[in-house]
Amino acid sequence: MEILSINNYSISYDGRRSAVDAVSLTVARGEILSIVGESGSGKSTLLHGVLGLLPAGAAARGSLALFGEDVNTMSGKARRALRGSRVSMIFQDTGRYMNPIARIGAQYDEFLRVHGMNDARRRRDLQREMLLKLHLSDPERVLRAYPFELSGGMRQRVGIAIAMSLKPELLLADEPTSALDVTVQAQVIRQMMELRESFGTAIVLVTHNIGVAAYLSDRIGVMQNGKLVELGDAAESIDHTQHPEPRSLLDAVVEIDDESLIVNHG
Ligand SMILES: Nc1ncnc2c1ncn2[C@@H]1O[C@H](COP(=O)(O)OP(=O)(O)O)[C@@H](O)[C@H]1O
Ligand SMILES: [Mg+2]
Repeated sequence: MEILSINNYSISYDGRRSAVDAVSLTVARGEILSIVGESGSGKSTLLHGVLGLLPAGAAARGSLALFGEDVNTMSGKARRALRGSRVSMIFQDTGRYMNPIARIGAQYDEFLRVHGMNDARRRRDLQREMLLKLHLSDPERVLRAYPFELSGGMRQRVGIAIAMSLKPELLLADEPTSALDVTVQAQVIRQMMELRESFGTAIVLVTHNIGVAAYLSDRIGVMQNGKLVELGDAAESIDHTQHPEPRSLLDAVVEIDDESLIVNHG
């Protein structure tokens, strides 16, 4: 069964122009698909459509199935129930979605409780475990803090920790590391790979870093003007002579932790 299956799927914000134009793709369990493409090509819109988070007035056409179920026939309640538990999303600036006047720990705890984790002790342990995994070395301090007391990079790591907490079957990540410094980016990339290795999480990653895409993904899609103009194996679609970008992040990933990295291009 496909985790995500999109067929001839289009999204328009204004009823005229298509921000996403007749896109078809599937994502299998445990697969990592990266999507690259210039700004405005429809990458974020596509992810929002998958998550069911389009603004009022936007219209989607075509078919979109999650876990084999057509979302058009799903109730709003069933669709919402998928969010956070079976499907998670990480945004470029996750801090923007946090409540500015509630402590991180209270928000994190609420998220886990709402998604059915009833044991307070387990919630507390999981929070600490995930924050440590995202290299927030003093989880107690982080949990006591208000969002504004943390740096942008720390807030982003908290957001990523939360999104990964329930071991989602599908993780949608929209440029999740572009606001982080290179070392932290590498840690986040590693954490995403671990999530896939440990829980079979499928990941759709929007990134502008072709090095990261090549390193992390099974397949890479290229969007242009709302269309998916290319979709291919990561190993084949990256022609390094055509993309002579500095591969600093890739190098950093490899440098930080050679041993525990599991590279899977299969
Ligand atoms: N909320 C919105 N309302 C209207 N148009 C939007 C909205 N968000 C994005 N767009 C438009 O849709 C197109 C695709 O944008 P987007 O999905 O954000 O591209 P990308 O993520 O690839 O940069 C762009 O033309 C953009 O201006
Ligand atoms: Mg975008």
